Amino acid sequence: MERLALHGGTPVRDGSKSWPKWPQYDETELNNVREVFESRVWGGTAHGPMKTAAQAKFAAYHDAKFGIGLTSCTAGLEIGLKAFGVGAGDEVIVPAFTFIATAFAPMYLGATPVMADIHPDSLCLDPNRTEEAITPRTRAISPVHYGGYPADMERFEEIARKHDLAIIVDAAHAHGAEWKGTKLGGMGDASSYSLGGGKNMSTGEGGMLTTDNAELAERWLYTLSSFGRAKDEPGYVHYELGGHYPMNEFQAAILLGQLERFDEQTKKRNRNAQYLNSLLAQIDGIEPPPIPPEVTQHGLHIYTFRIKPEEFGTDKRTFLDAAHAEGVPVSGGHPRPIYDNPMLDLETGDVAGGAGKFRALDCPESELLTREEGIAMGHVTLLAEESDMDDIAEGIAKVRRNVAQLRQVAV
Ligand SMILES: Cc1ncc(COP(=O)(O)O)c(C=O)c1O
Repeated sequence: MERLALHGGTPVRDGSKSWPKWPQYDETELNNVREVFESRVWGGTAHGPMKTAAQAKFAAYHDAKFGIGLTSCTAGLEIGLKAFGVGAGDEVIVPAFTFIATAFAPMYLGATPVMADIHPDSLCLDPNRTEEAITPRTRAISPVHYGGYPADMERFEEIARKHDLAIIVDAAHAHGAEWKGTKLGGMGDASSYSLGGGKNMSTGEGGMLTTDNAELAERWLYTLSSFGRAKDEPGYVHYELGGHYPMNEFQAAILLGQLERFDEQTKKRNRNAQYLNSLLAQIDGIEPPPIPPEVTQHGLHIYTFRIKPEEFGTDKRTFLDAAHAEGVPVSGGHPRPIYDNPMLDLETGDVAGGAGKFRALDCPESELLTREEGIAMGHVTLLAEESDMDDIAEGIAKVRRNVAQLRQVAV
Protein backbone atom coordinates (compact mmCIF):
# COMPACT_ATOMS: atom_id res chain seq x y z
CA MET A 1 0.00 0.00 0.00
CA GLU A 2 1.13 3.52 -0.82
CA ARG A 3 1.75 5.42 2.40
CA LEU A 4 1.72 9.20 2.79
CA ALA A 5 5.06 10.73 3.77
CA LEU A 6 3.24 12.43 6.63
CA HIS A 7 2.78 8.94 8.08
CA GLY A 8 6.27 7.64 7.39
CA GLY A 9 5.99 6.77 3.68
CA THR A 10 8.60 7.74 1.07
CA PRO A 11 8.10 11.34 -0.07
CA VAL A 12 7.57 12.05 -3.76
CA ARG A 13 10.43 14.48 -3.51
CA ASP A 14 13.10 14.30 -0.88
CA GLY A 15 15.90 16.68 0.10
CA SER A 16 18.23 15.31 -2.60
CA LYS A 17 16.52 17.51 -5.20
CA SER A 18 16.76 21.24 -4.72
CA TRP A 19 14.79 24.25 -5.97
CA PRO A 20 16.37 27.25 -7.73
CA LYS A 21 18.10 29.81 -5.51
CA TRP A 22 16.86 33.37 -5.13
CA PRO A 23 17.76 36.15 -5.78
CA GLN A 24 19.84 35.50 -8.88
CA TYR A 25 22.79 37.55 -10.16
CA ASP A 26 25.84 37.25 -12.36
CA GLU A 27 28.80 39.29 -13.54
CA THR A 28 26.48 42.02 -14.86
CA GLU A 29 25.33 43.02 -11.37
CA LEU A 30 28.83 42.60 -9.94
CA ASN A 31 30.42 44.78 -12.62
CA ASN A 32 27.70 47.43 -12.38
CA VAL A 33 28.09 47.65 -8.60
CA ARG A 34 31.85 47.88 -8.93
CA GLU A 35 31.36 50.73 -11.39
CA VAL A 36 29.22 52.57 -8.83
CA PHE A 37 31.84 52.12 -6.12
CA GLU A 38 34.54 53.46 -8.40
CA SER A 39 32.48 56.40 -9.69
CA ARG A 40 31.97 57.61 -6.10
CA VAL A 41 28.47 58.67 -7.13
CA TRP A 42 26.62 56.41 -4.68
CA GLY A 43 23.44 58.38 -4.10
CA GLY A 44 22.30 61.73 -2.86
CA THR A 45 21.10 62.77 -6.27
CA ALA A 46 17.83 62.39 -8.16
CA HIS A 47 19.68 61.72 -11.39
CA GLY A 48 22.78 59.54 -11.00
CA PRO A 49 23.69 57.68 -14.20
CA MET A 50 22.68 54.17 -13.03
CA LYS A 51 19.37 55.40 -11.65
CA THR A 52 18.59 57.36 -14.79
CA ALA A 53 19.36 54.35 -16.99
CA ALA A 54 17.45 51.90 -14.77
CA GLN A 55 14.36 54.11 -14.63
CA ALA A 56 14.27 54.43 -18.42
CA LYS A 57 14.85 50.71 -19.00
CA PHE A 58 12.32 49.56 -16.41
CA ALA A 59 9.66 51.97 -17.72
CA ALA A 60 10.22 51.01 -21.36
CA TYR A 61 10.00 47.30 -20.52
CA HIS A 62 6.71 47.92 -18.71
CA ASP A 63 5.21 50.02 -21.54
CA ALA A 64 5.29 53.21 -19.47
CA LYS A 65 6.80 56.55 -20.43
CA PHE A 66 8.50 57.29 -17.08
CA GLY A 67 9.97 55.43 -14.13
CA ILE A 68 10.78 56.92 -10.74
CA GLY A 69 13.28 54.89 -8.73
CA LEU A 70 12.33 54.73 -5.05
CA THR A 71 13.25 53.07 -1.78
CA SER A 72 10.15 50.82 -1.86
CA CYS A 73 6.82 50.10 -3.47
CA THR A 74 5.11 51.40 -0.33
CA ALA A 75 6.82 54.78 -0.77
CA GLY A 76 5.50 54.84 -4.34
CA LEU A 77 1.95 54.13 -3.18
CA GLU A 78 2.18 56.89 -0.60
CA ILE A 79 3.59 59.61 -2.87
CA GLY A 80 1.35 58.37 -5.68
CA LEU A 81 -1.72 59.22 -3.61
CA LYS A 82 -0.13 62.36 -2.20
CA ALA A 83 0.24 63.85 -5.67
CA PHE A 84 -3.55 63.75 -5.94
CA GLY A 85 -3.99 65.60 -2.66
CA VAL A 86 -5.29 62.53 -0.80
CA GLY A 87 -5.37 63.37 2.91
CA ALA A 88 -7.39 63.42 6.10
CA GLY A 89 -11.04 62.50 5.65
CA ASP A 90 -10.54 61.07 2.14
CA GLU A 91 -11.23 57.44 1.30
CA VAL A 92 -9.12 55.12 -0.86
CA ILE A 93 -10.55 51.78 -1.97
CA VAL A 94 -8.16 48.84 -1.61
CA PRO A 95 -8.68 45.07 -1.77
CA ALA A 96 -9.10 43.15 1.49
CA PHE A 97 -6.88 40.42 0.03
CA THR A 98 -3.41 41.90 -0.29
CA PHE A 99 -0.34 42.71 1.78
CA ILE A 100 -1.07 45.40 4.37
CA ALA A 101 1.15 48.00 2.60
CA THR A 102 -1.65 48.74 0.12
CA ALA A 103 -3.73 50.03 3.04
CA PHE A 104 -0.82 51.66 4.88
CA ALA A 105 -0.20 54.16 2.07
CA PRO A 106 -3.52 56.03 2.55
CA MET A 107 -3.15 55.69 6.34
CA TYR A 108 0.24 57.46 6.22
CA LEU A 109 -1.60 60.41 4.65
CA GLY A 110 -4.37 60.40 7.26
CA ALA A 111 -6.86 58.98 4.74
CA THR A 112 -9.19 56.02 5.32
CA PRO A 113 -8.55 52.79 3.43
CA VAL A 114 -11.82 51.11 2.48
CA MET A 115 -11.26 47.38 2.11
CA ALA A 116 -13.43 45.75 -0.54
CA ASP A 117 -13.69 42.20 -1.84
CA ILE A 118 -11.82 40.49 -4.66
CA HIS A 119 -13.14 38.72 -7.75
CA PRO A 120 -12.81 34.93 -7.26
CA ASP A 121 -11.16 34.38 -10.67
CA SER A 122 -8.60 37.17 -10.74
CA LEU A 123 -8.03 37.36 -6.96
CA CYS A 124 -7.81 41.12 -7.60
CA LEU A 125 -10.10 43.90 -6.37
CA ASP A 126 -13.56 43.33 -7.90
CA PRO A 127 -14.68 46.37 -9.96
CA ASN A 128 -18.34 45.79 -9.00
CA ARG A 129 -17.52 45.72 -5.28
CA THR A 130 -15.38 48.82 -5.86
CA GLU A 131 -18.28 50.79 -7.36
CA GLU A 132 -20.47 49.82 -4.40
CA ALA A 133 -17.79 51.15 -2.03
CA ILE A 134 -17.67 54.64 -3.55
CA THR A 135 -18.89 57.51 -1.33
CA PRO A 136 -18.63 61.29 -1.71
CA ARG A 137 -15.31 61.02 0.18
CA THR A 138 -13.69 58.54 -2.20
CA ARG A 139 -10.65 60.05 -3.91
CA ALA A 140 -8.71 57.10 -5.27
CA ILE A 141 -8.63 53.39 -6.00
CA SER A 142 -5.59 51.20 -5.38
CA PRO A 143 -6.13 47.87 -7.13
CA VAL A 144 -3.43 45.23 -6.67
CA HIS A 145 -2.31 42.96 -9.53
CA TYR A 146 -2.38 40.13 -7.02
CA GLY A 147 0.31 37.53 -7.49
CA GLY A 148 1.09 39.10 -10.86
CA TYR A 149 -2.37 38.58 -12.39
CA PRO A 150 -3.53 41.87 -13.98
CA ALA A 151 -6.48 43.55 -12.27
CA ASP A 152 -9.24 44.63 -14.66
CA MET A 153 -7.72 48.02 -15.52
CA GLU A 154 -10.24 48.71 -18.30
CA ARG A 155 -13.09 48.64 -15.76
CA PHE A 156 -11.11 50.58 -13.15
CA GLU A 157 -10.29 53.31 -15.67
CA GLU A 158 -13.99 53.53 -16.60
CA ILE A 159 -14.99 53.78 -12.93
CA ALA A 160 -12.30 56.39 -12.22
CA ARG A 161 -13.44 58.55 -15.15
CA LYS A 162 -17.08 58.32 -14.08
CA HIS A 163 -16.39 59.26 -10.45
CA ASP A 164 -13.34 61.46 -10.95
CA LEU A 165 -10.95 59.25 -8.97
CA ALA A 166 -7.21 58.68 -9.16
CA ILE A 167 -5.88 55.16 -9.75
CA ILE A 168 -2.63 54.36 -7.97
CA VAL A 169 -1.96 50.70 -8.67
CA ASP A 170 -0.12 48.40 -6.30
CA ALA A 171 2.03 46.56 -8.83
CA ALA A 172 4.32 45.02 -6.18
CA HIS A 173 3.83 41.56 -7.77
CA ALA A 174 3.32 42.54 -11.39
CA HIS A 175 6.72 42.78 -13.08
CA GLY A 176 6.33 41.63 -16.65
CA ALA A 177 2.56 41.05 -16.44
CA GLU A 178 0.61 41.86 -19.61
CA TRP A 179 -3.02 42.46 -20.51
CA LYS A 180 -3.83 41.95 -24.21
CA GLY A 181 -0.15 42.20 -25.11
CA THR A 182 0.58 45.42 -23.20
CA LYS A 183 2.51 45.55 -19.95
CA LEU A 184 0.77 47.33 -17.11
CA GLY A 185 3.14 50.18 -16.23
CA GLY A 186 1.31 52.91 -18.14
CA MET A 187 -2.19 51.99 -16.93
CA GLY A 188 -4.03 54.04 -14.30
CA ASP A 189 -2.31 57.21 -13.06
CA ALA A 190 0.70 55.35 -11.72
CA SER A 191 1.83 51.83 -10.81
CA SER A 192 4.14 51.07 -7.93
CA TYR A 193 6.39 48.02 -8.39
CA SER A 194 8.33 46.46 -5.51
CA LEU A 195 12.00 45.50 -5.80
CA GLY A 196 12.15 43.93 -2.33
CA GLY A 197 14.31 40.90 -1.56
CA GLY A 198 11.85 38.21 -2.58
CA LYS A 199 10.28 39.95 -5.56
CA ASN A 200 10.59 38.69 -9.15
CA MET A 201 13.05 41.51 -9.82
CA SER A 202 15.03 42.49 -6.74
CA THR A 203 17.44 45.15 -5.58
CA GLY A 204 17.34 43.94 -1.96
CA GLU A 205 14.83 46.66 -1.14
CA GLY A 206 13.52 49.22 -3.58
CA GLY A 207 10.61 50.32 -5.71
CA MET A 208 9.75 51.83 -9.07
CA LEU A 209 6.78 54.05 -9.77
CA THR A 210 5.77 54.12 -13.43
CA THR A 211 3.49 56.56 -15.21
CA ASP A 212 2.71 58.10 -18.59
CA ASN A 213 2.18 61.53 -17.03
CA ALA A 214 5.25 63.76 -17.55
CA GLU A 215 4.21 66.44 -15.08
CA LEU A 216 3.52 63.95 -12.30
CA ALA A 217 6.71 62.02 -13.06
CA GLU A 218 8.74 65.17 -12.48
CA ARG A 219 6.90 65.90 -9.25
CA TRP A 220 7.37 62.36 -7.95
CA LEU A 221 11.05 62.24 -8.85
CA TYR A 222 12.29 65.67 -7.86
CA THR A 223 9.75 66.79 -5.26
CA LEU A 224 7.68 64.15 -3.48
CA SER A 225 10.53 61.62 -3.15
CA SER A 226 13.16 64.29 -2.53
CA PHE A 227 12.37 66.64 0.34
CA GLY A 228 9.87 68.80 -1.54
CA ARG A 229 12.47 70.23 -3.89
CA ALA A 230 11.87 71.20 -7.52
CA LYS A 231 13.63 69.87 -10.61
CA ASP A 232 15.72 72.93 -11.26
CA GLU A 233 16.45 73.73 -7.61
CA PRO A 234 17.93 70.55 -6.17
CA GLY A 235 19.57 72.16 -3.10
CA TYR A 236 18.06 73.95 -0.15
CA VAL A 237 14.84 75.29 -1.60
CA HIS A 238 11.80 73.31 -0.42
CA TYR A 239 8.29 73.81 -1.74
CA GLU A 240 6.33 71.27 0.27
CA LEU A 241 6.55 68.38 2.74
CA GLY A 242 8.12 65.82 0.39
CA GLY A 243 9.36 62.40 1.51
CA HIS A 244 12.92 61.16 1.23
CA TYR A 245 12.61 58.01 -0.83
CA PRO A 246 15.21 57.96 -3.62
CA MET A 247 16.60 54.74 -5.08
CA ASN A 248 20.39 54.87 -4.77
CA GLU A 249 22.99 54.07 -7.42
CA PHE A 250 23.81 50.60 -6.03
CA GLN A 251 20.18 49.54 -6.23
CA ALA A 252 19.94 50.90 -9.75
CA ALA A 253 23.13 49.06 -10.75
CA ILE A 254 21.59 45.79 -9.53
CA LEU A 255 18.29 46.55 -11.23
CA LEU A 256 20.00 47.02 -14.60
CA GLY A 257 21.43 43.52 -14.21
CA GLN A 258 18.10 42.05 -13.12
CA LEU A 259 16.39 43.52 -16.18
CA GLU A 260 18.79 41.67 -18.48
CA ARG A 261 17.50 38.22 -17.58
CA PHE A 262 14.00 39.09 -16.45
CA ASP A 263 12.05 38.46 -19.64
CA GLU A 264 13.47 34.99 -20.07
CA GLN A 265 12.67 34.15 -16.43
CA THR A 266 9.09 35.38 -16.78
CA LYS A 267 8.53 33.34 -19.92
CA LYS A 268 9.85 30.25 -18.16
CA ARG A 269 7.53 30.83 -15.19
CA ASN A 270 4.61 31.19 -17.59
CA ARG A 271 5.48 27.97 -19.44
CA ASN A 272 5.80 26.03 -16.20
CA ALA A 273 2.58 27.52 -14.78
CA GLN A 274 0.66 26.54 -17.88
CA TYR A 275 2.02 23.01 -17.67
CA LEU A 276 1.30 22.78 -13.94
CA ASN A 277 -2.23 24.07 -14.56
CA SER A 278 -2.83 21.21 -16.98
CA LEU A 279 -1.62 18.67 -14.39
CA LEU A 280 -3.51 20.12 -11.42
CA ALA A 281 -6.73 20.26 -13.45
CA GLN A 282 -6.70 16.43 -13.43
CA ILE A 283 -6.79 16.16 -9.62
CA ASP A 284 -10.20 16.00 -7.95
CA GLY A 285 -10.71 18.83 -5.50
CA ILE A 286 -7.95 21.04 -6.91
CA GLU A 287 -8.76 24.13 -8.98
CA PRO A 288 -5.84 25.63 -10.92
CA PRO A 289 -5.88 29.41 -11.41
CA PRO A 290 -7.95 30.52 -14.40
CA ILE A 291 -5.78 32.37 -16.92
CA PRO A 292 -8.01 33.94 -19.61
CA PRO A 293 -6.70 34.87 -23.09
CA GLU A 294 -6.55 38.60 -22.17
CA VAL A 295 -3.73 37.77 -19.73
CA THR A 296 -1.04 37.38 -22.38
CA GLN A 297 1.64 37.20 -19.70
CA HIS A 298 1.14 36.53 -16.00
CA GLY A 299 3.60 38.14 -13.57
CA LEU A 300 3.50 34.93 -11.50
CA HIS A 301 4.95 36.33 -8.33
CA ILE A 302 2.58 34.01 -6.49
CA TYR A 303 0.92 31.06 -8.20
CA THR A 304 -2.33 30.57 -6.30
CA PHE A 305 -4.59 27.57 -6.72
CA ARG A 306 -7.50 26.34 -4.66
CA ILE A 307 -8.26 23.24 -2.71
CA LYS A 308 -11.99 22.46 -2.54
CA PRO A 309 -11.97 20.79 0.88
CA GLU A 310 -15.16 18.75 0.43
CA GLU A 311 -14.20 17.40 -2.97
CA PHE A 312 -10.57 16.82 -2.03
CA GLY A 313 -11.49 15.17 1.24
CA THR A 314 -9.53 17.23 3.73
CA ASP A 315 -9.13 20.79 4.96
CA LYS A 316 -6.52 23.32 3.89
CA ARG A 317 -4.27 22.95 6.97
CA THR A 318 -4.13 19.17 6.79
CA PHE A 319 -3.57 19.31 3.03
CA LEU A 320 -0.61 21.65 3.54
CA ASP A 321 0.96 19.37 6.14
CA ALA A 322 0.60 16.34 3.89
CA ALA A 323 1.84 18.16 0.77
CA HIS A 324 4.90 19.52 2.62
CA ALA A 325 5.77 16.04 3.78
CA GLU A 326 5.74 14.93 0.12
CA GLY A 327 8.23 17.73 -0.67
CA VAL A 328 5.74 20.07 -2.35
CA PRO A 329 6.74 23.71 -1.64
CA VAL A 330 3.33 25.28 -1.07
CA SER A 331 1.97 27.53 1.66
CA GLY A 332 -1.40 28.87 2.76
CA GLY A 333 -0.56 32.28 1.25
CA HIS A 334 -1.91 35.40 2.89
CA PRO A 335 -3.63 33.85 5.91
CA ARG A 336 -6.42 36.37 6.48
CA PRO A 337 -8.01 39.46 4.90
CA ILE A 338 -6.02 42.51 5.93
CA TYR A 339 -8.82 43.92 8.08
CA ASP A 340 -8.32 40.98 10.45
CA ASN A 341 -5.16 42.31 12.07
CA PRO A 342 -4.42 43.22 15.68
CA MET A 343 -3.81 46.86 14.72
CA LEU A 344 -7.34 47.26 13.32
CA ASP A 345 -10.50 47.35 15.43
CA LEU A 346 -13.32 46.08 13.23
CA GLU A 347 -16.02 47.29 15.61
CA THR A 348 -14.89 50.90 15.93
CA GLY A 349 -12.96 51.27 12.65
CA ASP A 350 -10.00 52.59 14.64
CA VAL A 351 -6.38 52.04 13.68
CA ALA A 352 -4.17 51.26 16.71
CA GLY A 353 -2.37 54.14 18.40
CA GLY A 354 -4.87 56.73 17.18
CA ALA A 355 -3.35 56.41 13.71
CA GLY A 356 -6.66 56.98 11.92
CA LYS A 357 -9.66 55.09 10.62
CA PHE A 358 -10.37 52.26 8.21
CA ARG A 359 -13.49 50.64 6.82
CA ALA A 360 -14.02 47.00 5.81
CA LEU A 361 -16.89 45.85 3.62
CA ASP A 362 -18.32 42.36 3.47
CA CYS A 363 -15.61 40.23 1.81
CA PRO A 364 -16.78 36.60 1.45
CA GLU A 365 -14.37 35.81 -1.40
CA SER A 366 -11.34 37.08 0.53
CA GLU A 367 -12.49 35.10 3.58
CA LEU A 368 -12.94 31.89 1.59
CA LEU A 369 -9.62 32.18 -0.20
CA THR A 370 -7.49 33.05 2.82
CA ARG A 371 -9.01 30.72 5.38
CA GLU A 372 -10.25 27.71 3.42
CA GLU A 373 -9.15 27.40 -0.18
CA GLY A 374 -6.09 29.39 -1.23
CA ILE A 375 -2.81 27.52 -1.72
CA ALA A 376 0.21 29.55 -2.78
CA MET A 377 3.46 28.72 -4.50
CA GLY A 378 6.28 31.24 -4.91
CA HIS A 379 7.73 32.36 -8.22
CA VAL A 380 11.14 30.77 -7.61
CA THR A 381 9.62 27.28 -7.79
CA LEU A 382 8.32 28.12 -11.26
CA LEU A 383 11.91 28.68 -12.40
CA ALA A 384 12.59 24.97 -11.95
CA GLU A 385 12.22 22.40 -14.77
CA GLU A 386 9.13 20.74 -16.21
CA SER A 387 10.02 17.50 -14.41
CA ASP A 388 9.88 19.47 -11.12
CA MET A 389 6.31 20.50 -11.99
CA ASP A 390 5.60 16.78 -12.43
CA ASP A 391 6.85 16.22 -8.87
CA ILE A 392 4.59 18.96 -7.51
CA ALA A 393 1.53 17.57 -9.25
CA GLU A 394 2.41 14.00 -8.25
CA GLY A 395 2.88 15.04 -4.62
CA ILE A 396 -0.58 16.58 -4.57
CA ALA A 397 -2.15 13.71 -6.51
CA LYS A 398 -0.62 11.26 -4.01
CA VAL A 399 -2.20 13.15 -1.11
CA ARG A 400 -5.55 13.01 -2.93
CA ARG A 401 -5.29 9.28 -3.70
CA ASN A 402 -4.55 8.55 -0.05
CA VAL A 403 -6.73 11.15 1.59
CA ALA A 404 -8.48 8.41 3.58
CA GLN A 405 -5.24 8.01 5.58
CA LEU A 406 -5.57 11.63 6.70
CA ARG A 407 -9.17 11.11 7.70
CA GLN A 408 -8.24 8.05 9.74
CA VAL A 409 -5.71 10.07 11.69
CA ALA A 410 -8.17 12.91 12.19
CA VAL A 411 -10.65 10.40 13.69
C1 LIG B 1 0.89 43.55 -2.54
C2 LIG B 1 2.08 44.24 -1.95
N1 LIG B 1 2.09 45.56 -1.90
C3 LIG B 1 3.14 46.25 -1.38
C4 LIG B 1 4.23 45.59 -0.88
C5 LIG B 1 5.33 46.37 -0.26
O1 LIG B 1 6.44 46.43 -1.08
P1 LIG B 1 7.77 47.15 -0.54
O2 LIG B 1 8.35 46.21 0.46
O3 LIG B 1 8.61 47.33 -1.74
O4 LIG B 1 7.34 48.44 0.06
C6 LIG B 1 4.27 44.20 -0.91
C7 LIG B 1 5.44 43.48 -0.36
O5 LIG B 1 5.48 42.30 -0.24
C8 LIG B 1 3.17 43.50 -1.45
O6 LIG B 1 3.15 42.16 -1.48
